[in-house]
Amino acid sequence: MPIIITEGRISIYPSDESSLEKARYWSARLGAPLVMQLRNEKQNPILVVANNRLEIHLGHSKQKGVFAEFSLTKAHAIQRQEGKNGLLPRAIGLRKHPHATVWDVTAGLGQDGFLLACYGCRVHWVERSRIVAALLEDAVQRGLADRDTQPILQDHVTLDTADAISWMHEQCSPPEVIYLDPMFAKANASALSKKEMQVLRSLVGLDDDAPELLAAALRCHPQRVVVKRPLKAPPLDGRAPSFSLQGTTIRYDIYLAEQM
Ligand SMILES: C[S@@+](CC[C@H](N)C(=O)[O-])C[C@H]1O[C@@H](n2cnc3c(N)ncnc32)[C@H](O)[C@@H]1O
Repeated sequence: MPIIITEGRISIYPSDESSLEKARYWSARLGAPLVMQLRNEKQNPILVVANNRLEIHLGHSKQKGVFAEFSLTKAHAIQRQEGKNGLLPRAIGLRKHPHATVWDVTAGLGQDGFLLACYGCRVHWVERSRIVAALLEDAVQRGLADRDTQPILQDHVTLDTADAISWMHEQCSPPEVIYLDPMFAKANASALSKKEMQVLRSLVGLDDDAPELLAAALRCHPQRVVVKRPLKAPPLDGRAPSFSLQGTTIRYDIYLAEQM
């Protein structure tokens, strides 16, 4: 069982003098205390500002932290390898909707959403964990200062920190696609590394309410709802999709508007 950390216990630590301003900013934004000394407490989460970025550390700060980052090189390599016939573009239906608006309602560290933005989609991220959303927002801010990623982040992505179940309920008109990637019980089938998944799981748990998230997405009636699943897992909430696309470790279940 993963250890779930309560977000209220988070504190912010600037690794050096030059990190102080950013640490103060996040301390105020998250209402979390700024600490100037680290104690060696296992499993106490701490947001460390180091190398001009926000990192989450669980327990001892000498371990490498986890942070969000966008790499155009990595995204282009995936695009070159897969083209528009890749699993994700086909799941989203990019041939029909090359500039689809996608609500990525399980944003996480933004890797899937960033790839979709590189394919030309307009991505709206929704993330309910304030800590994960802070890591994501920090990566967006850094990415906006980078010549390569700036055009994509500026024009193609937006972010809300909210529970997507109620957030979707409040929206007036649906997008073309709603994308769901709730936490898997096993770490080996994700856009994120094993360590990133372990840390994320410790922070947010296993997304046990994913069936409600799917129900809320279907109620919005977009043209399609796409759910990322482990290859052998049953469909989310036992709801048969319109069709599925299988990869080597994951599968996308696609629910089409006419069958919602
Ligand atoms: C497996 S991670 C997503 C990884 C992401 N696809 C990526 O590429 O980085 C799942 C994320 O969804 C978030 N999440 C789960 N249910 C949510 C909900 N109802 N509203 C908003 N965020 C949710 C979790 O907090 C977690 O950060």
